[in-house]
Amino acid sequence: METPFVFGKIASDVEFTDRQYETQHLLNNFNGIVNTVLISPRRWGKSSLVCKSAELYCTQSKDNVVVFVDLFNCRSEAKFYQEFANAVIAATNSAFNDFVASALKYLSRFAPSFSASDPAGAYEFSFGIDFKDKKMTFDEILDLPQNIAKDKGLKIVVCIDEFQTIKEYDDPLDFQRTLRAHWQKHSDVSYCLYGSKRNMMIDLFSDPKNPFYKFGDMIFLQKIAKSEWIPFIVGRFRDTGKQIPEDIAAYIADRVENHPYYVQQLSQLAWFRTTDECTADIVDSAFEGLEAQLGLVFSLIIDSLTPTQIGFLQAVADGETSFTSQEVLHRYKLGSSANVKNIKNALEKKELIDILPDSITLQDPVFKHWLLTKY
Ligand SMILES: Nc1ncnc2c1ncn2[C@@H]1O[C@H](COP(=O)(O)OP(=O)(O)O)[C@@H](O)[C@H]1O
Ligand SMILES: [Mg+2]
Repeated sequence: METPFVFGKIASDVEFTDRQYETQHLLNNFNGIVNTVLISPRRWGKSSLVCKSAELYCTQSKDNVVVFVDLFNCRSEAKFYQEFANAVIAATNSAFNDFVASALKYLSRFAPSFSASDPAGAYEFSFGIDFKDKKMTFDEILDLPQNIAKDKGLKIVVCIDEFQTIKEYDDPLDFQRTLRAHWQKHSDVSYCLYGSKRNMMIDLFSDPKNPFYKFGDMIFLQKIAKSEWIPFIVGRFRDTGKQIPEDIAAYIADRVENHPYYVQQLSQLAWFRTTDECTADIVDSAFEGLEAQLGLVFSLIIDSLTPTQIGFLQAVADGETSFTSQEVLHRYKLGSSANVKNIKNALEKKELIDILPDSITLQDPVFKHWLLTKY
């Protein structure tokens, strides 16, 4: 059976809602060859948004090309270069008659190796040499998009997900300097760099000491507003022969604080439980089901934390704001006020909290509810 909601994958077409302003904003940057930095917690819709804008960008002209690189599993420079080169060659492949020849032309010194994995021409592409001895050729890889764009008359946007990962490389500052030195000379290529670790991203792009300072247009992606979710949820129910009143659709969005991934997931669970028309009771039971399903994961998270970290999460869930006040320190057993900074950093690193200039929030609204009622 076709289900009307998606979560955990890219939302596209009818699954994609709202973000008109952001979509246009990104598209304008792509067209203007303006670099973009996009920041939000995980599962708020960065990938979906970038894909949407990329799709529009590519339909404008056959000479517009978008390259996608995901650094989630790239924990070293060598891996970065490999992913980067692979992605660029793969995305620009159609501009060439011969994939292998083009890769050899642009990456001559790497002697890359190929294997044709399917007859339709999808190549597996990998480097066969040790990167450490080949420092020189890194320049070749970083300039690859610009060189191909110039040769073939293309405009290229390179989108790099989980960009903050580069801070974990062996010599991150040196690496950033290298990247920036190359990329700022590219006149036919723009870069869209996004990531979910807010403070790491901010540090990369707004600290004057860092090479990527003022690299591009910085966008802090927000959650999707309730006013957008209501027609979306109502419409998806209707499209599949079921009903949901507007106030119940609003209730779904409320229960998970408009968190894009969870709104879709809770909608789906409620949809499954609905025969004709969805009610508040159905939403409550769907929410309980969701929480029960995640309970084990939440317990594991708790097991991995120190008592003071757990205390801090409870304080945030309770809506406390002055974490260094004697009363809060005492009530939640947080230790000294000097300790609070370390706790915050550790929890942010684990992506459990989001530290904003004026507040601290729990990233996961279901975890928050679980902490308040079940833990
Ligand atoms: N524009 C959108 N419209 C509808 N649902 C969305 C939208 N953006 C994100 N979502 C929901 O959130 C989930 C996570 O989105 P994703 O783009 O993967 O986020 P991120 O890249 O920030 O982790 C999607 O699977 C979908 O359920
Ligand atoms: Mg993503």
